[in-house]
Amino acid sequence: MRRPVPMAISVVRPFFVLSVMLGLLLMPCDGRLPTGGSPGKTLQVFQKKIPNLAKMLDKVGKRIRRHQSNNAGPPVSNPTMSGASSEAAIFLVTVGLGTPPVTLQLELSTGSDWTWTQCTPCATSCYSQTDPYFNPSYSTSYANVSCSSSTCTLFSGPSNPVPCSGQTCDYSIIYGDGSNSTGWVATDTLTLGSDLMIPNYLFGCGQNNGLYAGSFDGFLGLANTSVSLVSQTTSQFGKYFAYCLPYSSDSTGFLTFGGSNSTGFIFTPLVLLPQYPYLYGIQIIGISVGGIPLPASSLNLLVNAHAIIDSGTVITRLPPTVYDALRTAVRASLANYTTAPAVSILDTCYDFSKVQTIPDPNIGISFQGVGLTLGTTGAFYVVSSSQRCLAFAANGDDSDLIIYGNIQQRTWEIAYDVAGGSLGFSPNACA
Ligand SMILES: *[C@@H]1O[C@H](CO)[C@@H](O)[C@H](O)[C@H]1NC(C)=O
Ligand SMILES: *[C@@H]1O[C@H](CO)[C@@H](O)[C@H](O)[C@H]1NC(C)=O
Ligand SMILES: *[C@@H]1O[C@H](CO)[C@@H](O)[C@H](O)[C@H]1NC(C)=O
Ligand SMILES: *[C@@H]1O[C@H](CO)[C@@H](O)[C@H](O)[C@H]1NC(C)=O
Ligand SMILES: *[C@@H]1O[C@H](CO)[C@@H](O)[C@H](O)[C@H]1NC(C)=O
Repeated sequence: MRRPVPMAISVVRPFFVLSVMLGLLLMPCDGRLPTGGSPGKTLQVFQKKIPNLAKMLDKVGKRIRRHQSNNAGPPVSNPTMSGASSEAAIFLVTVGLGTPPVTLQLELSTGSDWTWTQCTPCATSCYSQTDPYFNPSYSTSYANVSCSSSTCTLFSGPSNPVPCSGQTCDYSIIYGDGSNSTGWVATDTLTLGSDLMIPNYLFGCGQNNGLYAGSFDGFLGLANTSVSLVSQTTSQFGKYFAYCLPYSSDSTGFLTFGGSNSTGFIFTPLVLLPQYPYLYGIQIIGISVGGIPLPASSLNLLVNAHAIIDSGTVITRLPPTVYDALRTAVRASLANYTTAPAVSILDTCYDFSKVQTIPDPNIGISFQGVGLTLGTTGAFYVVSSSQRCLAFAANGDDSDLIIYGNIQQRTWEIAYDVAGGSLGFSPNACA
């Protein structure tokens, strides 16, 4: 299925080697070294403001249709749309596609495995985007995947046993927020940075793409399946990547493959969730406010709960019982501050515009082996200078999937050692 591709250009990075050696010396004893193969490749990650907060809040990728699973994807409850018009942010990386390469801005997505972009002729429908649509006929290295190839069987599903349009294999993907894309399965050269080319990269040439908030050009799928970028670059990067999502849209973060420059990671195991083996499962074991753990009655729920980390979900989703306890503790700790109206699914908001320092409720989250203190950047979603909301929300049901969202991930370098089965956190890696 996956074609092992030779590294087209070898990128020698002495600093990288040095920092890994330092990492060896400084690594906490519960930490792990990157097991990534060759030297890294780093792309910039930037934030793009998109106009509608409510549309973005329920964004988690559902997998592409595959015959291996009858499962449509993780249960996601619908957010209450309160007509919010505030801005939200998504995280984009720039890649090149085709020969000669054209530049595309794709959403960095660990909650989905499939890389796709909108393609001419947009046979059914494309949404408007900033860059020109990818035109396969301008690329000398583009090829459709044929219906009869064994690769095409990866895209069949219960409702789509023969995923074909004419001779060409078809894919279809639906995300948690109702956005979707259907199109041709194709291969072309993917270029990372200015110089690392991945020939015959399997991707989707989207012909019918609906309901996207924001004008990015498609998705870069980093979840754990054989079609994701992680698997398609195993020979170059050894299934290891790390990113830092920037806090502000004035600064940039990074997405790095094959290793990491940071030291001092602390690692938690990645948990394989049998229902969603393509997602990155984690075990949340505790939540505290002001150093005081939430009541055991609510935390006990976390033991058997399924949780994932996703770069494309904005707000962290908790079981309703746990969210209630968190909200109660945060409201008590901020009792002396002026409240502000709720927005969309965010129901605990404050007006701190008249206080000198934004108060920190000191929210702590522990995963197995890792304790994180979120600070105000991870605690609040900034709607406006006079409206900051607790950046957590309740799932519909206590048994729904818990999602660790990107508000809480910003500024941390988060390393996905997919081959080694662990997830690392290192603080203050980008601004
Ligand atoms: C790819 O397949 C589609 C759908 O069958 C077809 O319209 C298009 O011309 C094909 N492109 C190439 C380069 O073969
Ligand atoms: C895809 O999104 C469009 C636009 O919202 C919608 O009309 C269509 O029904 C969706 N398709 C699927 C299969 O969900
Ligand atoms: C890692 O270090 C190399 C060499 O100094 C640099 O080019 C690259 O941008 C760095 N990556 C990150 C993620 O900081
Ligand atoms: C709120 O203010 C009152 C009066 O100054 C003080 O006694 C109380 O400790 C404050 N509560 C919190 C949670 O800071
Ligand atoms: C990735 O998927 C493979 C195949 O389902 C599985 O064996 C492996 O444990 C998964 N790795 C992680 C880190 O989830």
